[in-house]
Amino acid sequence: MFESLEKLAPDPILGLIAAYNEDSRADKVDLGAGVYRDEAGDTPVLRSVKAAEAVVLDTQASKTYTGSDGAADFNQHMQALLLGADHPAVRDGRAWTIQTPGGSGALRVAAWLILRARENARVWVSDPTWANHIPLLGSTGLQLETYPYYDVSTRGIRFDDMMAALKAVPNGEIVLLHATCHNPTGADLEQAQWDAVADLMEEKSLLPFFDMAYLGFAGPLEEDAANVRRFAERFPEMILASSCSKNFGLYRDRVGALTVVSSSSANAEASWSQAVNIVRRIYSVPPNHGASVVATILADESLRTQWIGQLDAMRARLQGNRRALTEALAGVDTGRDFSHVAAGFGMFSILGLSQEEVGRIRDEFGVYMVSSSRINVAGISRANIDYLVKAIAGVCS
Ligand code: LMR
Repeated sequence: MFESLEKLAPDPILGLIAAYNEDSRADKVDLGAGVYRDEAGDTPVLRSVKAAEAVVLDTQASKTYTGSDGAADFNQHMQALLLGADHPAVRDGRAWTIQTPGGSGALRVAAWLILRARENARVWVSDPTWANHIPLLGSTGLQLETYPYYDVSTRGIRFDDMMAALKAVPNGEIVLLHATCHNPTGADLEQAQWDAVADLMEEKSLLPFFDMAYLGFAGPLEEDAANVRRFAERFPEMILASSCSKNFGLYRDRVGALTVVSSSSANAEASWSQAVNIVRRIYSVPPNHGASVVATILADESLRTQWIGQLDAMRARLQGNRRALTEALAGVDTGRDFSHVAAGFGMFSILGLSQEEVGRIRDEFGVYMVSSSRINVAGISRANIDYLVKAIAGVCS
């Protein structure tokens, strides 16, 4: 049977991890997959996570099944973290949160839920967007369209084009928005632009569908959550896929959440029952370990404070790396402007190299980045920045 299957190329992002590991050059640089790295190039388990893991190991009395919605304490704490415990949608019983295997799991369950609600639903995603958005959402059969977002040649957000495109979206359709730290560009809307998007979407009854994989990476937690909370106040319905991979460093433990705001508590009960039914038909119940760790951290004042400090430190390092790269590139002759790197948020920036230049920098210098020239700024360190700048200048013709 399997003779009929063709061999596929590796995944455009995860495939870089294997390619980098196989490269034997000592001075290779990994700017590929979106994984936080410290100055030594490591992705250590956060101390708050280690401490919470000890608590979980010590106190966990059973490994029996949770429900398809996962761990109840995790769901409650995540909802409070994302929306705020006093949010009107929470108070009115119009919001529910279920634990999912990572943000990807949340996106996938959301896609099926949208399809159950409306078979011919269309979701509008930014151009460009996370390389896995279209495969992950589209392979459910959900129809996807794109709206303009970023111009690589000017390294700027195409806000007017974005607004014009959203204006032309038929009323009632769904718009996927990156809550913070746009992946792959690192270019986020300013507050006034977010407000204009919200006004337009409200006028056209467009449904906001947020992907929030980087809460706490653009600014402090409350600041990063504020925009999504405002949308949830203005819109009767909202979808929010969130991830704990980056901000808790729990990548492989697969911790995420799907939050849905409905127009009434009865509608919320119905959509929740559909969501858990969908989960039962895919993975039955989500893994528990990472979610228990997150719930333990969020419930304990001192672990929570420790975690927020670690998150602040990650964010500060990313911002420092952005500035350092922009400054270092300004000091060499590339004939190009890289100031947008310093101005961006989160892990990513698009350098603006051509596909051919991305191939050359990998072949000639062992510098790994996504083919769009998206770099993970966490991979920059004092030890490799001079080499990296030399490599970038070396391929800029
Ligand atoms: C990324 O964009 O590099 C990360 O979100 C990892 C992934 O799963 O693609």
